[in-house]
Amino acid sequence: MYQLLLVLAGLASHASAACDRTMLKDATAAYLKAQAAGDPKMPALSATVNYTENDVVMDISKGVLAQPVVVDFDRSLLDTNQCATFTEISSATNKHPYVIHTQMRFGDDGKIDTVQSVVADAGDWVFNATAHLYWNKQEKWDPIPEDKRDKRDVIQAAGDAYLDSWTDGKVKVPYGSPCARLEGGMYTGTTATKTNTCTMPQFPEAFTIKHRRYVIDEELGGLSIFNDFPFIDKTKPDGAPSSNFFRLEGGKIRYIHENTVCATRNCGR
Ligand SMILES: *[C@@H]1O[C@H](CO)[C@@H](O)[C@H](O)[C@H]1NC(C)=O
Ligand SMILES: *[C@@H]1O[C@H](CO)[C@@H](O)[C@H](O)[C@H]1NC(C)=O
Repeated sequence: MYQLLLVLAGLASHASAACDRTMLKDATAAYLKAQAAGDPKMPALSATVNYTENDVVMDISKGVLAQPVVVDFDRSLLDTNQCATFTEISSATNKHPYVIHTQMRFGDDGKIDTVQSVVADAGDWVFNATAHLYWNKQEKWDPIPEDKRDKRDVIQAAGDAYLDSWTDGKVKVPYGSPCARLEGGMYTGTTATKTNTCTMPQFPEAFTIKHRRYVIDEELGGLSIFNDFPFIDKTKPDGAPSSNFFRLEGGKIRYIHENTVCATRNCGR
């Protein structure tokens, strides 16, 4: 019995050394605290972190994390499989309003070695932080009961199908009913709250959405896809920095949040 206990204790300590939800939750809490304080020092941050903001590599101490930003509302995804996190911040009451999407990735040394953010503010694609905050707060992203959770490949495939469908009408997207999209401050589910309002019209030209970076959380049915979105901004033919954030329920898309950064006001549209 005593030996069995020793073995179990050994297993438990081994498991806690690996990437788990507690460690990732602590990382997102530290990130939110850092952003609120405008102090990018986080306990798990690697000294050689690769930090990019809107696809530009920069010094983390010169970016938005070095400005105090009021966090009015936030949601996070925890991906123990990749040891990565995603966080969305709605900051409407900040003097300078923002919507910030951030992915963080841990290296083998247990330190955060990659931080990437899509930082949207006035002039970015249909940006309105007040409306973003309002609609975001109405949504329910409760943990999904264990026996009803979708597998990570199902979750990722739904998000990929959505992005692929923009230029290929043959791609079937598993939209739920209801499904609502929050794009900047524009919400598709304002009055039709029981139907699918997420279907994308076909774009008038063909393009492929590349450089997809994923964070997946089965417990929340959550998926983050950072990507480069061509077409929207004429000055960025290779793609504007963009983020799509999904919630799936029972294999179907319930919510989509898009955060896209424009080089020119509202991407010149
Ligand atoms: C940092 O990340 C960017 C974007 O993924 C990449 O292009 C660059 O090579 C990376 N830099 C280092 C030093 O790894
Ligand atoms: C942003 O959204 C709020 C709430 O819907 C609205 O009152 C406001 O007029 C909008 N601002 C702009 C600049 O469109």
